[in-house]
Amino acid sequence: MKKFVVVLTLVLAIVIAAGVLAAQQQSNRVPPPWAYGFATPPGATAAPAAPAAPATPSAPDPTMHKLPGSNSSFTAAQIRDGAGPADWYPGDHPPMPDIVAHGKPAQQVIACSLCHYPNGKGRAENAGVSGLSYDYFVQTMMDFKNDKRKSTDTRKANTNRMISFAKAMTDDEIKAAATYFAAIKWTPWVRVVEADTVPKTRIAGGLFLVAEGAEAGKEPIGQRIIEVPEKTEDTELLRNPRSGFVAYAPPGSIKKGEALARTAQCTLCHGANLEGLGPVPGIAGRSPSYTVRQLFDMQAGSRKGVWTDLMKPVVDKLSAEDMLNIAAYTASRTPGGAVRSNQ
Ligand code: HEC
Ligand code: HEC
Repeated sequence: MKKFVVVLTLVLAIVIAAGVLAAQQQSNRVPPPWAYGFATPPGATAAPAAPAAPATPSAPDPTMHKLPGSNSSFTAAQIRDGAGPADWYPGDHPPMPDIVAHGKPAQQVIACSLCHYPNGKGRAENAGVSGLSYDYFVQTMMDFKNDKRKSTDTRKANTNRMISFAKAMTDDEIKAAATYFAAIKWTPWVRVVEADTVPKTRIAGGLFLVAEGAEAGKEPIGQRIIEVPEKTEDTELLRNPRSGFVAYAPPGSIKKGEALARTAQCTLCHGANLEGLGPVPGIAGRSPSYTVRQLFDMQAGSRKGVWTDLMKPVVDKLSAEDMLNIAAYTASRTPGGAVRSNQ
């Protein structure tokens, strides 16, 4: 009888473990919508579309906008001009090569500086591209070009555009962009704050923004990182390359992420402070939404570049919650080794 109980307990334990594993794998197959800039997972019934805007094209807004410390002023249209967006602080970066400043309009390549900003800091919905090694930058551009790097959430339109830019670029243009961005040091501008509740948000072009007016309020964070601009208008309208982000993360996530990072020995390849080592990219103080997208894309096999094999054994073991915790931790680090903020 005793033996039977032992066997039964064992069988039960195995069944439960298998169930847990299956549930984990299941949840891992669905890209976490918050990391990809969506309110719902792919395939979910979308909310009814907002009524179409009136067809009459409004005249361009002539308002000239200004930012403290900048000698320039720009209209909204100039700020988001894909063939030469606003460069508010030319003194903050070396002279931009043509592809970064203007793109290649004839081939539908938008200026890198529009989405990634002239200083390469990028935004949560795209990527920080400065301070990456030249070799990594070129390699990952080739991966985009060769269909080795895609988004698991195929709705992510800006990643699809990024791929089309890489395909339309010459080797010389890729090298020029890589040389330019690799020369700019990475300085973090995301502040990680652990919190039970977060501001309610709306999503614009894959970026979470704090909801205002009647939509404003608080909601439970759940298993999400909610990354929003510190100042909505500075990021959304003005594209101020000095105005950073705040990332709300679940309480305890940074510590859990630190333990996971220690076990996985991220520092072996990414450097003692995760600042990057040789060609391996730095991951300290970068957008946690971006980081989760990459970990998930590598696990799902949508990102399978020439160097991704080194990351594969690392990501294969991670649950969706592990990825969240790891990203909260890496985002809270600085390449210099200090924690930027954790209140
Ligand atoms: C329309 C916006 C947009 C423009 C313009 C753009 N990118 Fe990107 N880029 C993205 C997005 C989105 C991603 C990240 C995709 C993801 O999260 O998977 C990205 C990622 C990258 C990465 C990968 C960063 C990393 O850490 O691996 C590099 C490198 C890059 N872009 C270079 C460029 C260059 C060079 C240009 C100019 C020719 C450019 N981008 C123009 C949207 C853009
Ligand atoms: C054996 C070496 C190795 C280890 C260990 C390792 N990485 Fe990586 N990691 C790499 C390489 C190489 C790349 C570039 C992959 C590519 O080009 O696709 C990379 C890429 C990444 C990226 C994408 C960066 C970007 O800019 O897109 C993230 C995020 C990342 N690693 C996080 C981690 C974390 C977190 C750990 C620990 C849990 C870790 N890595 C452990 C080698 C490693």
